[in-house]
Amino acid sequence: MTRTARAYTNIALIKYWGKKNKQLKLPYTNSLSLTLDRFYTDTTATIINEDHDVVYLNEQLLNDSQNKRILNYLDTVRKFYSFKDHFQINSINHVPTSAGFASSASGFAALAAAINETKQLNLTRRELSILARNGSGSASRSIYGGFVEWEAGTDNESSFAVPIDEHPEIDLSLLSVVINKSTKKISSTTGMENSVKSSPFYSNWVTLVASEIEEIKQAIAQKDVQKIGEISEHNAMSMHALTLSADPSFTYFEPETIQIIQLIKEMRQKGILAYATIDAGPNVKIICTKESLPKVQTCIKQQLSNVTTVVANIG
Ligand code: PMV
Repeated sequence: MTRTARAYTNIALIKYWGKKNKQLKLPYTNSLSLTLDRFYTDTTATIINEDHDVVYLNEQLLNDSQNKRILNYLDTVRKFYSFKDHFQINSINHVPTSAGFASSASGFAALAAAINETKQLNLTRRELSILARNGSGSASRSIYGGFVEWEAGTDNESSFAVPIDEHPEIDLSLLSVVINKSTKKISSTTGMENSVKSSPFYSNWVTLVASEIEEIKQAIAQKDVQKIGEISEHNAMSMHALTLSADPSFTYFEPETIQIIQLIKEMRQKGILAYATIDAGPNVKIICTKESLPKVQTCIKQQLSNVTTVVANIG
């Protein structure tokens, strides 16, 4: 039996930053994202007559150490659904690193969906979201389109994403600004752990997220892109404040990240709608409207010659 599934990546407007249960990937807070229309993973799962799994990523056979996270995940899935089959997994990422997005969200969402189809588990979307979450927290949200909220929950069964508006009619585009630098990356898991453990502001973050989730849901219902931008930017800066206030402190920002943040502020002073959101890396995603997008693009290109930009819309 062979089946293929596709999942798109998402960008968190209210970020997930901190796990209260590392193994189950249960977050301390809810989070809220936008699924995009451009960057996706296609994953094929085939049941094979072997006692081990075989994984190909972008047509390359992965070795045991590259494989570890996926093999552990497949073990978890077998345990959850009490079967013994092993798989050949062929995963093609259409999430170029040059676009500045992480592929773990679309990757684990597509893998969960491909196994669901191949094993005919007939999972509901809620169950699929739970299964994807066990691979990567942000993958729980890529099961749905549009605006999606991941409810933190208290155990495996109660932590899943729910759609807020799968087909929003809203004038919102995203410009990803990719800073051309191979930085030594602190994984999101390590970054979260250090922030939870040592930032004196972590408990404030938990309180802040609870109120910002409510505010942004209102802004989404009112299709108020400016308000969505304001809340998203504030939330992203607050998340990065947790890294700077950790002990030892760390940051995902590069000099160009700060430069772009400043530029965005200057654009706003000129009446151009632009707000920043930044994940666990140096790249900046700019929330725009159809009207502001070309102006933002021109301004970024004029000021920074070393960056590439990619436009994404709601998917
Ligand atoms: O799902 P992970 O472990 O890759 O963590 C994602 C963390 C952020 O991208 C920074 C925030 C988020 O909610 O997606």
